[in-house]
Amino acid sequence: MAPPETNSEFEALLDYLKHNRGCDLTGYKHSTLMRRFQHRMQSLKIESYNNYLQYLQRHPEEYRDLLNDVLINVTGFFRDHDAWTYLADEVIPKIIGSKEPDEPIRIWSAGCAAGHEIYSLLILLAEALGIENCLKRVQCYATDADEEAIQQARRATYKELELASIPPEWLQKYFHPTPQGYTFHPALQHTVIFAYHDLTQDAPISKLDLLMCRNVLIYFKPEIQARVLVRFHFGLKHTGFLFLGKTETLVHRRPIFTSFHHQHRIYTKASKLEISDYLSIAQKSSPQKALTPPTQEHDFWRTLFETNPAAQLAIDLNGWLIGANEQASHLFDLTPEDWNRPFQELVPGKILRSHISIQAFYRARSTVSLKHVEGVTAKGIKYFDITIAPVFNAQRQFLGVAITFADRSDYQQLTEKLSSTEAELDKLREAMHTTQMELEAAHQEMHLLDQDPTY
Ligand SMILES: C[S@@+](CC[C@H](N)C(=O)[O-])C[C@H]1O[C@@H](n2cnc3c(N)ncnc32)[C@H](O)[C@@H]1O
Repeated sequence: MAPPETNSEFEALLDYLKHNRGCDLTGYKHSTLMRRFQHRMQSLKIESYNNYLQYLQRHPEEYRDLLNDVLINVTGFFRDHDAWTYLADEVIPKIIGSKEPDEPIRIWSAGCAAGHEIYSLLILLAEALGIENCLKRVQCYATDADEEAIQQARRATYKELELASIPPEWLQKYFHPTPQGYTFHPALQHTVIFAYHDLTQDAPISKLDLLMCRNVLIYFKPEIQARVLVRFHFGLKHTGFLFLGKTETLVHRRPIFTSFHHQHRIYTKASKLEISDYLSIAQKSSPQKALTPPTQEHDFWRTLFETNPAAQLAIDLNGWLIGANEQASHLFDLTPEDWNRPFQELVPGKILRSHISIQAFYRARSTVSLKHVEGVTAKGIKYFDITIAPVFNAQRQFLGVAITFADRSDYQQLTEKLSSTEAELDKLREAMHTTQMELEAAHQEMHLLDQDPTY
């Protein structure tokens, strides 16, 4: 059999799944995928990928079993016990301590499988906050690309064997026996929103205090891992924590996260994201290209963007802000939390909205210039010349728009001064004209008197 990366039969199989079943596995490590596919094929006594493709076409129900094998939803309560103890002792108190007493605490379990992970965390939070307080303050999101696993997580009912890692007092406090097994605390369950979410494709959940993504990244190719990490960086607050699986390491060309506890794979945010990071997730179709180290040309464009004296913003295809230079951030009071938010909700978006519909612009895709647009900004009322330009890559793919706000407030003030001076001049001219007329009339009168003293 040909080496994994050149196996065209295997590629054809992935292509079929992507285009006919909407299941894009191209971001997963091929070696792991092949092992999983072969496991399925052996159980069906099929020897070639080609024959397996035909089998899949004839037996649509096979897709479900294949996905179960490929997505590997092995999980457990308090998996890697020491890491959870550390989380309870060191991380959760820090999260709680960094907040006002009533402030919400936002958690995301990405790749949550059947829910063991998010319920483990809820137990720790309920222990730290008390159940009442936990119900008031904690907002959890638990997502997975496997619908069946999400259904299981929603049911929250587990076999006795699965609960072996839970101390008896917690088992009694947080689970109740049912004929189907043990069901997790119903009220606490309601703090969790479960949803389908594909980490390789979908936008992240935002303003997170803790993001758990354990034993998922390991299945992705390095370039996909790097892209997912950029999304995680977006999603986390400055003070937020990222919790990975025991054997996972961070793959990114720059250290966008810093290790908080290496052994337990707990991280905090490090450097700011750069434009190239934003582009790497905008250019879904060519991730490889986007993640190659920046070239001199790339550097040139980035520096140009950063040093542009005008405020400049980059908006992606979905209408979300994906970049703002220093000038724009300063002028519109944008914080990194605003990145990856709908542009229309932000101050520059609101200024623009009353003059042009972004949707109309997205349809037309040609440059638009607006003059003397008044806008209320963090720095008071300003006047702008605005240019909205479509951005295409070398293959003429539409990537989004670049919007430039050139501050013309000084010019506007000068123009206003000039027109008020001109108005004053006009008044003076008129007064002079009247005086001149009066003078002329007086002159005429004197002339008539000279000629005829009886006049
Ligand atoms: C090994 S389990 C890990 C479960 C849990 N996080 C833990 O550590 O116990 C991997 C999970 O990742 C999910 N997964 C795989 N690919 C995914 C993707 N592209 N987006 C979201 N979840 C994915 C699988 O469905 C599976 O539930």
